[in-house]
Amino acid sequence: MIGVDIENISRFKDKECAFYERIFTKSEIEYCESKRNPAPHYAARFCAKEAVFKALSSAGIGNILITQIEVYNDKNGSPHVRLLNPDMKYKVHISLSHDKEKAIAFAMLSHEVSRENNNV
Ligand SMILES: CC(C)(COP(=O)(O)OP(=O)(O)OC[C@H]1O[C@@H](n2cnc3c(N)ncnc32)[C@H](O)[C@@H]1OP(=O)(O)O)[C@@H](O)C(=O)NCCC(=O)NCCS
Repeated sequence: MIGVDIENISRFKDKECAFYERIFTKSEIEYCESKRNPAPHYAARFCAKEAVFKALSSAGIGNILITQIEVYNDKNGSPHVRLLNPDMKYKVHISLSHDKEKAIAFAMLSHEVSRENNNV
């Protein structure tokens, strides 16, 4: 299963803290706020969550909250997804991109893996 989403970066500029906290996890907020211009990074993460939601939805799974889909980056900068729903047994692969105005993300689900692999 696959999913995709594209967003205007301006939607994520200079909002109240509560706005970010409703959508993003603590570690996602820390990552974005460590950047000189956080908005593109927030927008890309939002796209990733929507893309993952679409992919899960296509697989018949709708019982997941936006904050249960967490994006993190490895030491090379490559993005990954951690599904924080304990019942979730899918491995998710994502790719993000952002320019001046838009951010985009693709997501792909692969078949069931063990919890250990899902939390790499
Ligand atoms: C990693 C790289 C591809 C990012 O591309 P970019 O155009 O600078 O930036 P984009 O907006 O498209 O993408 C940014 C996102 O790429 C992702 N990314 C960063 N490093 C990555 C990596 N090593 N692998 C996969 N994805 C990566 C991140 O998710 C990042 O967004 P985030 O910081 O919000 O998580 C680029 O910096 C790079 O190193 N390019 C290599 C250049 C090269 O050798 N080109 C010729 C070969 S085709």
